[in-house]
Amino acid sequence: MESIAEEWLRRVEAEYRSAAAAQHYTLWLIQAGASPDLIVDGMHIAEDEIGHASMSHQVFLAADGKGSPTMDQDSLGLMRQRDSLEEDLLIEGVRFFCLGETVAVPLFQRMREQCTVEIASQALEKILVDEVRHRDFGWTLLDWLLSGPNGDSLRETLERELPSMIAALAGSYGSAPEASKISQEEREWGLLAGSDYAEILERCYQRDYRPRFAVCNVAIPPNLVRS
Ligand SMILES: [Fe+2]
Ligand SMILES: [Fe+2]
Repeated sequence: MESIAEEWLRRVEAEYRSAAAAQHYTLWLIQAGASPDLIVDGMHIAEDEIGHASMSHQVFLAADGKGSPTMDQDSLGLMRQRDSLEEDLLIEGVRFFCLGETVAVPLFQRMREQCTVEIASQALEKILVDEVRHRDFGWTLLDWLLSGPNGDSLRETLERELPSMIAALAGSYGSAPEASKISQEEREWGLLAGSDYAEILERCYQRDYRPRFAVCNVAIPPNLVRS
């Protein structure tokens, strides 16, 4: 049970990180004068992520978890890194929503399929429903940014940065040999093996990233490249 509680506690921390990023990103949208519906959707996402943290904490407690999450204050929020706010909106929006939330959908689908513990399964069900909306928010954002007056130069910037962003994501998603390390009980509590993360990302790259970036006329490498 210890590994199960630990993983759900790690998810609480990740949901706080997502909430902070969504909240901060929405402030950037306000500063950029984005449309009110986009701003409200961003606020709604931050609220969803806090709800996910709360549900994940309930699962952690049900798994006999002790202690509390570690809040790494320096990683909670976004940092302006580029001269133009539009470029930061583009790169952080693609990293967080287009890449992160798009692969989150099949990941949570897989977790939910194997999960039989009621409280965990209810949390995963709600998270999955929300992640679909968070993913769609990302692609709407990208379309909005690329169809603006600076669309061509933003597209060039994105094409330059995408390969390293994707490699960093792949690097954080584990690798095949860890497959056997997960027990049936862990799966029933909604955990996945490292190999599941790697395999789902690989499939998502072909099924989701490539066609969605193609619609936005953004070139990406034909296959997932790991760093
Ligand atoms: Fe979430
Ligand atoms: Fe999310």
